[in-house]
Amino acid sequence: MSTMRNDRSRQDFRKSRGKSGKRGVHMTVKEEIEQLKREKNAVILAHYYVPDEVQEIADYIGDSYYLSKMAVGLEQQTIVFCGVSFMGESAKILNPDKTVLMPEPCADCAMAHMADAETIRRMRERYDDLSVVCYINSTADLKRHSDVCVTSANAVDIVRALPSRNIFFIPDRNLARFVAEQVPEKNFIFNEGYCPVHEQISLAEAEKAKAEHPEAEVLTHPECPDALCRMSDYVGSTSGIIKYAGMSSAEEFIVCTENGVRCELEKRYPQKRFYFTQTEPVCRDMKLITLEKVLHVLKTGENEMNIGSKVRGEAKRPLERMLELAGTKQTAGTGRE
Ligand code: 13P
Ligand code: SF4
Repeated sequence: MSTMRNDRSRQDFRKSRGKSGKRGVHMTVKEEIEQLKREKNAVILAHYYVPDEVQEIADYIGDSYYLSKMAVGLEQQTIVFCGVSFMGESAKILNPDKTVLMPEPCADCAMAHMADAETIRRMRERYDDLSVVCYINSTADLKRHSDVCVTSANAVDIVRALPSRNIFFIPDRNLARFVAEQVPEKNFIFNEGYCPVHEQISLAEAEKAKAEHPEAEVLTHPECPDALCRMSDYVGSTSGIIKYAGMSSAEEFIVCTENGVRCELEKRYPQKRFYFTQTEPVCRDMKLITLEKVLHVLKTGENEMNIGSKVRGEAKRPLERMLELAGTKQTAGTGRE
């Protein structure tokens, strides 16, 4: 009797120890996450806009395109997605048999809702030769009414490769304009959606930063307004901006995108300097993801992403078409692009 009790308490003691050998109560949140990830066969994906400490515990970190590519073919059964709803939805649509957990289910992207199925239907009636191109920052319901998805990293190449001459681009008017300029052979129909974070990056503040740092190059996300893109040295996706900063001979940069990219920029290029506009662009929804919330979903399995099978099945086609047209070559193992 007493031997059994001793055995049990030894087992319990072992179970509560982390990699560091500490008891459960003394483990840090990061150590607990690491331990639970192994026990539950889980993998953590994070967008560059989530808080730095969450980026640090992620197995894979990148922009929307990289994360959608990486979500396919992962060996783990559970994906913890540190990002906003449309990102978790895309991971679930592409991997219906996996469990996708959202640390903060209320984290949403306002732009993802700025289009509607009825307008798509009317456009299809008006134009015979039409492709509905849907930015991945959109709800699953919008995706299922679309022909192909794109991200800011692949939109130009994909639109160029489409057979149709008419392109209805939803929901982002700014990315649509950026793509339309580079693919002049297509007739673009614009939709009035926008990202509230990038739309509000001020041209005046970018010019002020440039006056203070005249040697700095201006790097801008295509979700930003036209005038800001035009005064920039480089316009591209979050990953594009990070890669450009490494390839450029400049040593200073004014970064016109969400301030979460600072973490990766400073980690990769410690000798370079990065400035943001005075009113730093912050996506409040992305910042809702915390280490404690990641730990909570790993412990409890709560906040599982679920999408009805009809919507899931129909939304899969445009996402898969994006991966086919853009190429799905994975860079697994590096954890970064
Ligand atoms: P990318 O990740 O494609 O750069 O898009 C930025 C963004 O706003 C994600 O929500
Ligand atoms: Fe949506 Fe803009 Fe936030 Fe990206 S930064 S999730 S586009 S609101």
